[in-house]
Amino acid sequence: MKKKIMPVDLVKKKKRGEKIVMITAYDYPTARLVDEAGVDAILVGDSLGMVVLGYESTLPVTMDEMLHHIRAVARAKPRALVIGDMPFLSYETSRRDAVLNAGLMIKAGAEAVKIEGGVEVVDKVEAMVKAGIPVMGHVGLTPQRMLRIGGYKLMGKKVDIAEKVIEDAKALEDAGAFAVVIEFTVAEVARIITEKLSIPTICIGSGPWCDGQVLVIHDVLGLTPNPPPFAKKYADLSRIILEAVKRYSEEVRAGLFPGEEHTLHMSREEYEELLRRIKKE
Ligand code: KIV
Repeated sequence: MKKKIMPVDLVKKKKRGEKIVMITAYDYPTARLVDEAGVDAILVGDSLGMVVLGYESTLPVTMDEMLHHIRAVARAKPRALVIGDMPFLSYETSRRDAVLNAGLMIKAGAEAVKIEGGVEVVDKVEAMVKAGIPVMGHVGLTPQRMLRIGGYKLMGKKVDIAEKVIEDAKALEDAGAFAVVIEFTVAEVARIITEKLSIPTICIGSGPWCDGQVLVIHDVLGLTPNPPPFAKKYADLSRIILEAVKRYSEEVRAGLFPGEEHTLHMSREEYEELLRRIKKE
């Protein structure tokens, strides 16, 4: 049996120059499959809100919703590291809130948590790490702040923002984060951060020079109608699902399903006895 992956193993991978593969999953069967495929980390992302629950952004996602899906993923007992994404307003208000909510995620089966933000959240990162909870940071585009930012914008094109993203990543490392996601940031900035930090950088839409990559599984499988420009579709499950359900509907309507091979019978003797009894009643 292969050894369980822990946060420290991702740091070791960076040291060895091995790329880290992370992907999102939100339920038991998907967690089993991505684990069997050999990913290093499974993120139960708050992207759940948009790709599974149909919200327009990640802002409405609650702790209860996250915990429900973390439990489902944890039941798959993956070898990959399970990371719970802390939803909007579950960690910003106080260090106490951050530790208690992160603790709920750990009790639900997460083995680390992820929070968005840089310098402004380092006190929360320190408090969680002090409590024994491994923390992954998230800089660059932080979708939970999209109202303030003014949408989902590419970060770091101008020097001021580039410097801020670099400063944020460094502050998270100094606060004890074991890794940092860099989202939708120009590749040059992601490269500088990757070279500067001793903890791994995991990129999404931030170019190839990071220590690892993460994608939302619904984008990978072709299940999102409007995927982000940086996502790559490796399969077209929408087409496969559509074709399968159309064929099923046609067969039901034509009386072709269920066929004899999907039908279960009682023995002739039991059937005849049943008919006798019904007649008597
Ligand atoms: O919620 C999520 O899926 C994420 C990834 C985009 C990194 O935070």
